[in-house]
Amino acid sequence: LAKVEVDLSAIPEGKNVVVTWRGKPLFVRHRTEAEIAEANSVSLSELRDPQMDAERVQQPKWLVLLGVCTHLGCVPIASAGDFGGYFCPCHGSHYDVSGRIRRGPAPLNLEVPPYSFLEENKIIVG
Ligand code: FES
Repeated sequence: LAKVEVDLSAIPEGKNVVVTWRGKPLFVRHRTEAEIAEANSVSLSELRDPQMDAERVQQPKWLVLLGVCTHLGCVPIASAGDFGGYFCPCHGSHYDVSGRIRRGPAPLNLEVPPYSFLEENKIIVG
């Protein structure tokens, strides 16, 4: 499928769901207030691939990412690793709650795919 709709109302706060989009895993995470605050507390100078959290989300509580490690393409595990975002077990890359690379061999942040809100609780990716 070229585009996929995701019903956000089915995703509880604090959960990350995995949807398949164009044969790849897509992560949709309902971030908590604490995670949003954490993502915004990081300064650009701490980041290997510097991006503000606000550049990576359309609405702070919804994080939408490709679930493909930017090192060699494994699928990271959600809510794991030293920064509470994602952890790639293949070679130990740690991503934060904005999907930004923080430690390990991956060079870049997890990619944000093109998506838009169709309504308050529904996005379309692609
Ligand atoms: Fe993720 Fe190597 S593929 S750390």
